[in-house]
Amino acid sequence: MMISQRLQEIPPSGTIAISNLVSKMKAEGKDVLAFSLGEPDFATPDNIVDACVDSLKGGFTHYTPSMGIPELRKVIAETTKAKNGIPCEAGNVLVTPTKQALFMISLAYLNPGDEVLLPDPSWVSYEAHIRMCGAIPKYVSTSFDDGFVINPDNVAKQVTSKTKMMVINSPSNPTGCVQPEATLKGIADICKDNDIIVLSDEIYENIIYEGKHHSIAAMPDMFDRTITVSGLSKTYAMTGWRLGWMIAPEADIKAVNKLQSHSITCCASFTQPAAIEAIKGPQDDMKAMVATFKKRRDLALDLMSEIPGLECNVPGGAFYLFPKYSAKIPSNELAEKLLTEGLVGVTPGRAFGPCGEGFFRFSYAASEEDITEGLSRIKKVFATL
Ligand SMILES: Cc1ncc(COP(=O)(O)O)c(C=O)c1O
Repeated sequence: MMISQRLQEIPPSGTIAISNLVSKMKAEGKDVLAFSLGEPDFATPDNIVDACVDSLKGGFTHYTPSMGIPELRKVIAETTKAKNGIPCEAGNVLVTPTKQALFMISLAYLNPGDEVLLPDPSWVSYEAHIRMCGAIPKYVSTSFDDGFVINPDNVAKQVTSKTKMMVINSPSNPTGCVQPEATLKGIADICKDNDIIVLSDEIYENIIYEGKHHSIAAMPDMFDRTITVSGLSKTYAMTGWRLGWMIAPEADIKAVNKLQSHSITCCASFTQPAAIEAIKGPQDDMKAMVATFKKRRDLALDLMSEIPGLECNVPGGAFYLFPKYSAKIPSNELAEKLLTEGLVGVTPGRAFGPCGEGFFRFSYAASEEDITEGLSRIKKVFATL
């Protein structure tokens, strides 16, 4: 068929490509351990599942208002205001799957030729979304030695008269870096001085071990130029529920809702009361998951430190390690070697941007047993490099 030029130019998702390969090998009966997935391995907490079942059984199975049910929009706004300091109300919230929010935001704000700044390395889909709109991604380099903290001077150097938007993602996928408040302030000042919109992806905001989460939209004079996205997937182990949100000035929410109403119409109805339960109900399960992630992070870091040729920062959040390796081999070849020779799935660092070359992403959203076995396999492959 005649696929559009626009789509032909977009590479498939680097993370999904490796996951597909892992699934294929597993289907062939191979004992592959996957550390390539970006999702918690826990079950969604029972109170949330029960709320969903209740709404299904209660017949809440039809379309909802396109922007989401009013009670959920209100709960998201109140919680975000109290927890993150973002001065938002229900009218500033659009309920939508987080990745859908990010895609719609690119469609809503970017014109062909606009430039978008994004940290290098960063999550794979930002670049694809930007390119699909005919806009131009411009990477802002970050480095292992700085713990992948963004240097506002490097942001300023990339600004031109065409710069429309800056993407930030803290805690970061793939590095786990939690951007310090001073860094965000520096970025906010550059964006205000140059009339740049900020897209702040805060999907890992609750998975933090060291440091504190800061929302750039809460900083002085930033709310009117910031779109904040977050969601339930990572915080409450709800990746399959496809439920998240964006927060922005009300007029922008109305504009983006045109895209939502002409595409997915609304999120699934019966998940929305369950989302209220997730956000307002007991948070003990969520806190226990975060504590478990921290234990696994520390275990994986310990085991990695015993592998010659590997170095890793201590990430303050999310559930990824992004180690640097010394072997002179491209990261996609390394990932292939680890998979075929070591039966371990990791994501090549290059999938996340040019600065990701020489690194790989290891998701520790896996059992301690698997982490221990997986890193032992990785150690064996590294011994052959
Ligand atoms: C940084 C980042 N943003 C957005 C998403 C998309 O989240 P969801 O699956 O909830 O749409 C992901 C998922 O991996 C992510 O890592």
